[in-house]
Amino acid sequence: NIPLAIAIDGPAAAGKSTVAKRVAHQLSYIYIDTGAMYRSLTLKAIQSGADLEKESELAVLLKATDIELIQKRDGQHVMMDGEDVSHDIRTNEVTSQVSIVAKHREVREEMVRRQQELVEERGVVMDGRDIGTHVIPDAEVKIFMIASVEERAERRHKENLEKGFTSDLEQLKMEIRKRDELDSKRETAPLVKAEDAIEVDTTSLTIEEVVSQIVTIVKKKQ
Ligand code: C5P
Repeated sequence: NIPLAIAIDGPAAAGKSTVAKRVAHQLSYIYIDTGAMYRSLTLKAIQSGADLEKESELAVLLKATDIELIQKRDGQHVMMDGEDVSHDIRTNEVTSQVSIVAKHREVREEMVRRQQELVEERGVVMDGRDIGTHVIPDAEVKIFMIASVEERAERRHKENLEKGFTSDLEQLKMEIRKRDELDSKRETAPLVKAEDAIEVDTTSLTIEEVVSQIVTIVKKKQ
């Protein structure tokens, strides 16, 4: 079996990371969460009091920031400047501001450069917004995962409750719509389905069904 590159893009909370992790596991591929990289920079920018609208300020900050995705026995951990920020990058504060940081061209160029270094070898599943269009335009398998806003918000809501967090369904819907709008309307590498991507609507599918659809697509290409 020839190892391939699998690009999974789509709007917020469509289940990309859950599915990408399982597909990677089934194929013994490496999973790379590019959203975690934008989230890490956002966390650092907030902590250092940077102006999130200032492109050059953020570009300078990113140059001085080391972001590593490492595999541990209990899953992937995100290290920023040597510190484990896996939890801190998932707070509402970061989630609500990450799309502002991610809209800047200079930030994206550096992120894409780093991400491309990570896919020099095939055998990867990468998820994000611009993977099939910019990061791995020659990926052998491109998936564009979508689901209705209602479905995405409800899944996130359930997840929050299971984790013991308070969660407001209407608030979640608003936040997801807002983030999708910012990601889809930005000038640089907006969220858009690559021409050669396969659209998978997960609204009425289980995680297992989506995973097996993607694995089937991969097997056909090998
Ligand atoms: O995937 P996740 O929800 O963690 O991504 C967080 C945010 O990072 C997205 O809403 C988007 O603004 C940005 N992002 C991006 N390009 C990527 C991955 C994430 O712009 N490849």
